Amino acid sequence: MARLVIVSNRVPAPAKRDQQAGGLAVVLEEALKGDVLWFGWSGKRAAATSTKPNFATRGTTTFATIDLSEEDYRLYYAGFSNRSLWPLFHYRTGLVAYARDDYKGYRATNETFARSLAPLLEPGDVLWVHDYHLIPLGRSLRELGVDLKIGFFLHIPFPPQSVFDILPPAGELAADLAAYDLIGFQTAEDRENFVGCARKLLTGEPRAHAIAASVALPAGIDAGAFARVAKRSSLSAETKRLEESLVGRKLIIGADRLDYSKGLPQRFEAYSELLDTHAEYREKVSFLQVAPRSREDVSEYRELKRTLDRLTGKINGKYAEFDWVPLRYMTHGLSRKLLAGFFRLSAIGLVTPLRDGMNLVAMEYVAAQDEADPGVLVLSRFAGAAASLDAALIVNPYDPGGIAEALHQGLMMAKEERQERWRSLMRRIEEDSAAAWCRRFLARLTEPSKTLRAAS
Ligand code: F6P
Repeated sequence: MARLVIVSNRVPAPAKRDQQAGGLAVVLEEALKGDVLWFGWSGKRAAATSTKPNFATRGTTTFATIDLSEEDYRLYYAGFSNRSLWPLFHYRTGLVAYARDDYKGYRATNETFARSLAPLLEPGDVLWVHDYHLIPLGRSLRELGVDLKIGFFLHIPFPPQSVFDILPPAGELAADLAAYDLIGFQTAEDRENFVGCARKLLTGEPRAHAIAASVALPAGIDAGAFARVAKRSSLSAETKRLEESLVGRKLIIGADRLDYSKGLPQRFEAYSELLDTHAEYREKVSFLQVAPRSREDVSEYRELKRTLDRLTGKINGKYAEFDWVPLRYMTHGLSRKLLAGFFRLSAIGLVTPLRDGMNLVAMEYVAAQDEADPGVLVLSRFAGAAASLDAALIVNPYDPGGIAEALHQGLMMAKEERQERWRSLMRRIEEDSAAAWCRRFLARLTEPSKTLRAAS
C-alpha cells in the first residue's frame, strides 16, 4: 500500500482528533488506518510563517504542521479563503469581499505549503488535498517537480458558473483545479457547476481533463460507530441532566458552527413562528441550539452573533414563563460524544443551512436515534445531504413558515411513520459511508489508466 499524504488547512491535534462534530478527521477515519502523513497549518499564529514543519505521531499517522504569520493568516485564511471563497461558494454574492492583496497572500501561502511539503514526499506517495483553502496547491507542487498522483476534494458547495465568474481570478482558480488528477465534489449539482465553469473558463487539454477528472462523491459518516457512541452517551450524567431539565417536554436540537451559511436567524424565526401559530407547543417543547463561535475576526460572523443574541432575547422575552425557557442558545461547542447522546434524546433534529456542502451533522442525528422510538430530521433542501436523505422532512430554509409547519408535522408524527422514515434514511447513510467515500476516492485517484498531469 502506498503512503497517503493528506493535506488540509487545519490538522486535528493528534490527541483530540475526534472532538469536533462532522470534522475532517471523522470522515477520513478509514484513510487513517494505513501509513499516513497529514500536512497543514498548526492552527498557531507566529511572528513569521515557518517552512520547517513540526512533527507528531499518533498510531500510523504522522502529523506535520507549520505555523502561519499574522499577515499570512489575515490574507490567506481570514481574507481570501473566508471573505471571498467561502461566501461565494455558498452563493452569498452580497457578502463577497475581494482584495488583490488577500489573493496574493492566498497564493503565496499555498506556495509556502508546497515548498514545505515537497521535501517530505517519497516516490509512490498518493496525495489527497482538501478544501477551498488549498485550490492552487496541486499546481504549486507540480511547479516544484512533484509528479505523484494528486487528488482534490471540495467539502463545500461549488457555485454555478455565473456566480463563480464574479471572482476576478476565476479563470486562474479553474486552471488550478484542472491541475489535479482527480477533482471531487459532494454532489452531482456541484460537479455540474464546475463542469460549466471549465467549459467557460478553460480551453483545450485542461478543459477536457477538468471535465473527465471531476467526480461527484458524497462524503459520509460511520453510522454504526456513531450509533454506539450515542447509545453509551445517552446513559451519561449530562444526558440525564438534560432530560431532567426538560421535565417531559420534547426537545428540538440544532448543532452548527456559528456561520451565516447555516440559516440560524431563519431557524430561530421559524421556532418563534411555531410558538406563535401553535400555542399548544408553549411550555411543551424546548429548542436547544448549540452554535460554537467561529471565524470571529471576520466581521460578518460577529454581526451574525449579534443578530442571534438579539433574536434569542426577543423570543425568550416574548414566550418564556418563570419555569420554562423556550430557546436554549449556547455559543460554545460540546464534544461530539455528548452531542450524540443529546441527539438521541431529541424529538427533532433541525438542520436548515441556506447552503451546505454535505452536512454530516444531519447524518449523525439520524445515526444517533433509537430505532424503537426515533426522532425526526428536518433538513434543508440546500444541504448536500438532501440529495440522498429524501426521507427527512425537507424544507426551504429561507421560509420560516415552512420550517414551522415541518416542526409541527415532526412533533405530531406517529411512531410508525418515524420508524419508516428512519429506516430509509439509515439505509442511505450506510450506503454512502465515510469508509466507502475514502475507498471510492482513492480507487479513482490511483486507477492505473489515469495519466499524470504535466507541470504547467
Ligand atoms: O465546511 C468546511 C470546513 O473547512 C470544515 O472542514 C470545517 O469543519 C469547517 O469548515 C471549520 O472551519 P475553520 O477551519 O475555518 O474553523
